[in-house]
Amino acid sequence: MKKQIANWIVKDNIPLNEKHCLLKLTLEESLPEILPGQFVQVKVDNSESVFLRRPISVHQVDRKNQELWLLIQIVGDGTFQLSHLIPGDSLNLIYPLGNGFSIPAGSDKDKKLLLIGGGVGSAPLLYLGAYLKEKGFTPTFLLGARSERDLLQLDEFRKLGTVHITTENGGLGEKGYVVNHSSLLEGDADFIYACGPNLMMLSVARYAKEYAIPCEVSLENRMACGIGACLCCVEKTVKGNVCVCTEGPVFNINQLKWQI
Ligand SMILES: Cc1cc2nc3c(=O)[nH]c(=O)nc-3n(C[C@H](O)[C@H](O)[C@H](O)COP(=O)(O)OP(=O)(O)OC[C@H]3O[C@@H](n4cnc5c(N)ncnc54)[C@H](O)[C@@H]3O)c2cc1C
Ligand code: FES
Repeated sequence: MKKQIANWIVKDNIPLNEKHCLLKLTLEESLPEILPGQFVQVKVDNSESVFLRRPISVHQVDRKNQELWLLIQIVGDGTFQLSHLIPGDSLNLIYPLGNGFSIPAGSDKDKKLLLIGGGVGSAPLLYLGAYLKEKGFTPTFLLGARSERDLLQLDEFRKLGTVHITTENGGLGEKGYVVNHSSLLEGDADFIYACGPNLMMLSVARYAKEYAIPCEVSLENRMACGIGACLCCVEKTVKGNVCVCTEGPVFNINQLKWQI
């Protein structure tokens, strides 16, 4: 898929809570092909300290409304600047970057596909869920966060399938971490997709291995160029050290040199 660089127009910027916002971007021409799990490199204007583009997952591609959604967690000046964009502003993106999640082949639409997200790591799972649903699958989501406040876009996830929830403080759903959720006791998922903090993904990978469930994780290693030139995002894999920005961000857990 050819990489492109273009100025997108901010259609809406919706604050979700004090740390998160939802950016809806649009293009005049028709939206490009983008696969779930791919990301964009965002140029941050108006910052004296941010020179490098920031990698952000594709949260949703709404072709009906000609929109690309980005879910932003404010952690530093780059994301702070993004959270202050207003409708009509322009945002320069390089896209689509990286490789997406595997989409099951075949006609077995009853496959149990479990999408596990932690905090803002749930961002790419909304588009993945929508894509799977469009292909005839029924995704199930398991979303975890510290507290109810940190659970994002629940209404959007609920439009796509069953949503199980854990919070560390027990404010919503089951108390604990995603891997402690009672729905996992059966170990009957056919495929697991996960994105979130590394420790969460490691726990999910251990669970998947224990039950011999194929599993893909989306890594969020620190990135600079986003196009395989600076080598700052390398990850150890069975094929040696690879750049997450070009070989990932999605990896099958069997490819990773994690202590699973
Ligand atoms: C493939 C990919 C997809 C991503 N998708 C999203 C997304 O959908 N939404 C979103 O809000 N963020 C996402 N991120 C993380 C996002 O890129 C960083 O939070 C952002 O670059 C921080 O920029 P900043 O200028 O605001 O903060 P900085 O000043 O650069 O950093 C602030 C703090 O955040 C830490 N930090 C920065 N980047 C990361 C990272 N990748 N992992 C762990 N800690 C980090 C820094 O160490 C520092 O402590 C993604 C990252 C990758 C690699
Ligand atoms: S971010 Fe530069 S090589 Fe991956």
